[in-house]
This record gives sequence, C-alpha cells and structure tokens, in this order.
Amino acid sequence: MSKALEGVRILDFTHVQSGPTCTQLLAWFGADVIKVERAGAGDITREQLRDIPDVDSLYFTMLNHNKRSVTIDTKNPEGKQVLETLIQKCDVLVENFAPGALDRMGFTWERIQELNPRMIVASVKGFGPGPYEDCKVYENVAQCAGGAASTTGFDDGPPVVTGAQIGDSGTGLHLALGIVTALYQRTQTGRGQKVLAAMQDGVLNLCRVKLRDQQRLERTGTMKEYPQYPNGEFGEAVPRAGNASGGGQPGWILKCKGWETDPNAYIYFITQAPVWAKICNVIGKEEWATDPNYATPAARLPHLKDIFAEIERWTMTKTKFEAMQILNKYDIPCGPILSMKEIAEEPSLRKTGTIVEVDHPTRGKYLTVGNPIKLSDSPTEVKRSPLLGEHTDEVMAELGYSPAQISALRTAGAI
Ligand SMILES: CC(C)(COP(=O)(O)OP(=O)(O)OC[C@H]1O[C@@H](n2cnc3c(N)ncnc32)[C@H](O)[C@@H]1OP(=O)(O)O)[C@@H](O)C(=O)NCCC(=O)NCCS
Repeated sequence: MSKALEGVRILDFTHVQSGPTCTQLLAWFGADVIKVERAGAGDITREQLRDIPDVDSLYFTMLNHNKRSVTIDTKNPEGKQVLETLIQKCDVLVENFAPGALDRMGFTWERIQELNPRMIVASVKGFGPGPYEDCKVYENVAQCAGGAASTTGFDDGPPVVTGAQIGDSGTGLHLALGIVTALYQRTQTGRGQKVLAAMQDGVLNLCRVKLRDQQRLERTGTMKEYPQYPNGEFGEAVPRAGNASGGGQPGWILKCKGWETDPNAYIYFITQAPVWAKICNVIGKEEWATDPNYATPAARLPHLKDIFAEIERWTMTKTKFEAMQILNKYDIPCGPILSMKEIAEEPSLRKTGTIVEVDHPTRGKYLTVGNPIKLSDSPTEVKRSPLLGEHTDEVMAELGYSPAQISALRTAGAI
C-alpha cells in the first residue's frame, strides 16, 4: 500500500526533540527522511539519559523511527559538497539548530535557493523575530515564555511546567503541518519557501484559551469558572487555575479509593450541566437537583469547592476504574488519572498502534509511542531508529557517488 508522503525526500538536519518529532511524523507518513549527523557523535540525544551503556538511548530511539542516518561533516569542504548534492535532491530541509548555525555553515536561504529553488526550508527556533530571536531555547524555556507556566499550577504556588512536551514535540507538530502545507502550495507555484515554527508561538497557540481569559479578566474583572472566583481574588493577569476545567463545564481532580498509597488513584470529574441530576443521584445528593442553590450552573459556581468535596466523598469509596464504569453508564464525563505504567500496559493502545513494541539490534525490545494520527489509506508501520551512519554508503550511492569516491570522502573525513 502506498504512503501519503511517498516520494517526498527530507534532508533532516534536526537534533534533540523538537525537530526530530516533526521529521519522525513525516517519515511515518511515508517520506524518505535522511538524517544528517556529525560523524562519531551524532544527535546528542543518542547518548543522553542512557539506560544501557553504549547503546542509543530511548530518548533518541523514540524520536527517530523510520529514518535513515548518514554522517557528514558539514564544516569539511568536501562534506559541504555532499550536502549541496543532498540539497539538490531533496524536497525539504528541516533544521532546529541554534539561530544562525545554518548560515554559519554557508547554507543561507539564498544559497539553498540557488541550489534548489523548489526546496522548502523548515526551521524550529525558540523565538520568532524580536528581542529574543538569537536565544537558544529548550522545552521548559518555551513553556515559560509561551504562557503555559504562568497559567499552570496552583494559585498559592510557583509557576509549574507540564510533563507534556508542548514546547518541543508541540512545535514539531506545528512545523510538520507547515511543511505539508508548503509542499501543497509548491504543487501550484513550483517554488519552495521558508517555514518557521517558533517554540514560543507554538506554546502560545496551545495556550490560546488563556489569552482569551486575559481579555475576559480585563473586561469583567472576574472569571466565574476559576477557583479564585468565590473570593474574588483576581490580579491583573490570568491566574493559575489548579485543576479547574478550561471550559464552561466545571471539573476537578478527585481522590479515589487507594489514594493514600497510590499517587495516581484519582479521577477527573466534570460536573457537566446536562447530567447534573444524574450526578446528584449517583453521589446520593438527590435534593441538589432541585435545590435553587445547586440546580443551575450559575447557582453552583460559588459552591464548586463544596460540591467537589461532596463528590469526592463518593469517589473515595471507589477505585478510579470502578468510578469510571459507574459514571460512564450515566454519560457523566470523567477520566482516570493514568500512570505511565498503566498506559504502557493498556491493551487497547497496543491494538491501535498508539503504543508499539519495537526491536532494535543493540537495545533489544522497547516500547514507543506510535503515530497518534491515523490515516486510513496510509497506515503507519513503526520501524526502529537508525544506528549512527548506518545508511551513509546507501544514500551516497543513491546520490551518484561511486564506491571509490565514497571511500575517498571517508578518508578525507567528509563523511
Ligand atoms: C537545542 C539547542 C539549544 C542546542 O544547542 P547546541 O547543542 O549548542 O547546538 P547548536 O544548534 O548551537 O549547534 C550546532 C553546531 O553544530 C554544528 N553542526 C551540526 N551538525 C553538524 C555536522 N553534521 N557537521 C559539522 N558541524 C555540525 C553546527 O554547525 C553548529 O556549529 P556553530 O555553532 O559553530 O555554528 C539549539 O540548537 C537551539 O536553540 N535550537 C533551536 C530551538 C530548538 O529546537 N530547541 C529545542 C531542542 S529540543
């Protein structure tokens, strides 16, 4: 069966997490992703957070599936020539070097355009043009600068970063969309273009609702669904809302049976308005369905803390899974707090290919997250990440280099 991006060749100049997330997605959709790495070292994540000595880390393997690896020294003049050939043969160059690194290598936008006017040059940077454009950026910096940290955590505590890699993987996703969009436009224009996804912008895009709230706060001085509301303690900026639901249906994380010893014995419970009467029945507070202090969403807002405390008295008598089963019967929206252990062992996620077991020649079997985006005509087959330089000879031969030329370039330290 053909793949959606079959025939698209990607020069993958990415490293660490944000760029590799993007090119891995493109590879899963069928693009030929050629990862260019520095000989001897490669992507720094190959050796970061290792769990097995001298074996590519899970950090690397889980972000670089379905790619080919070639090692080229792009600061060596002959290596540079090889890279020029690659630029001529590829459709997209993806990079997430520190600002200016590609230019310093000699590959400015103008030079790339000379070599291949159809080339799409896609970059992740920490910031877009502005005061911070020259800064190097990692995940948590982006979470802080993009508005996520100031709006995450509890009101009486410091800003908090989230475990979801919204700065790195989130921006990689944004970049992937930019790339396929540019590829589509190229079918009309015949020209390449630059695609930029700045991590601050990507995080802010995911925090869109908080900028919505900033403006609501400025206009009205309050936000009734926030836990601060009953006491009216709002400052000038959107506060941290703890576990409050971001939408119009109040929610909170509640303890379940076993919470004293299991840090994940919790459930997210949403008091969705249409099922309020059912919630009252389930928790044994039937009178709340008609009590004017509780019967309508507006009446409930000042009492949310007490309401959730009462619901928690009920959830604490059930495991999170028992509670889920009961609540789902009544269409009450809720979700268990799943640990990574539980997710890794979840059979339905294995069945859909969202969790995949992969075999690797030096590491053996390991689990990874497969493609979260499912296309009916372009199914994803997750293949192991490449060893450093595993495909150098293969790719060089495809570029037209003879075995003798390859050997000479290797002797010169170019590849
Ligand atoms: C992530 C980041 C902070 C890492 O910084 P770093 O480890 O110092 O790496 P840099 O990107 O600065 O370095 C790349 C250097 O390696 C060189 N290099 C990379 N591949 C090479 C190759 N194959 N051959 C020779 N040199 C190579 C580059 O030319 C550059 O050298 P220079 O600084 O002399 O110009 C930085 O790349 C960055 O800010 N990237 C953009 C934002 C981003 O993606 N951040 C999230 C990462 S998950």
